[in-house]
Amino acid sequence: MMMKKITGTLLGMGAALLATAGWALEAGDVLVRLGPAGVFPNDRSTEFNNLGPALGIYGAKAGVGNAWSAGLTLAYMATDNIGIELVAAWPFKHTIRGDGAINGINIGDTKQLPPTLLAQYYFFPKGPVRPYIGAGINYTIFFDTNAKSPVENLDLTNSWGFAGEAGVDVDLNKDWFVNVSGWYMDIDTRAKAEVAGVTTKSQVNIDPWVFMFAIGTHF
Ligand code: NI
Repeated sequence: MMMKKITGTLLGMGAALLATAGWALEAGDVLVRLGPAGVFPNDRSTEFNNLGPALGIYGAKAGVGNAWSAGLTLAYMATDNIGIELVAAWPFKHTIRGDGAINGINIGDTKQLPPTLLAQYYFFPKGPVRPYIGAGINYTIFFDTNAKSPVENLDLTNSWGFAGEAGVDVDLNKDWFVNVSGWYMDIDTRAKAEVAGVTTKSQVNIDPWVFMFAIGTHF
């Protein structure tokens, strides 16, 4: 009798705790997540053309450095399980360095914004721990690209590509949650530059992993 009472009380307390600790995700909710985000390229490039015959430079390639900034995501729940997410960020600034025959030489820097639109699936929308996956499309805009001597007039084309993601929200209370999320983004650009009056191009595949550690709320 006593055991039953204690068990009942504990169960009641547990249920109350869960009810206050979290909230159920449902159709129409808007999730906002904000936090530091890092971009880690898996970069590789083709050889810069035209430099061999004219300047005797063979096997010159380009690579892209890591960058940190702040990320912001907005997700609208179309159903209890399916969200539409827009990923935004403050600009990321990357070093562009030589690779291959010019490995280690700093050839410039660039800024980029990678807006991404994804469809998401939340596995457990009613729980306080809500993992999800997503897939969609990324558009990356490169701007403020600077060349470093002896490279001149460095320019990068914008990129369209696939994006995939996985993440998890963990409730802190009824209003706030913490989030960790990661994306794979297919980002490819054509780098165009001038070296000693010779115009040269290289196809640079950046294809980064992007990670964000965020605090989130919902409306
Ligand atoms: Ni790619």
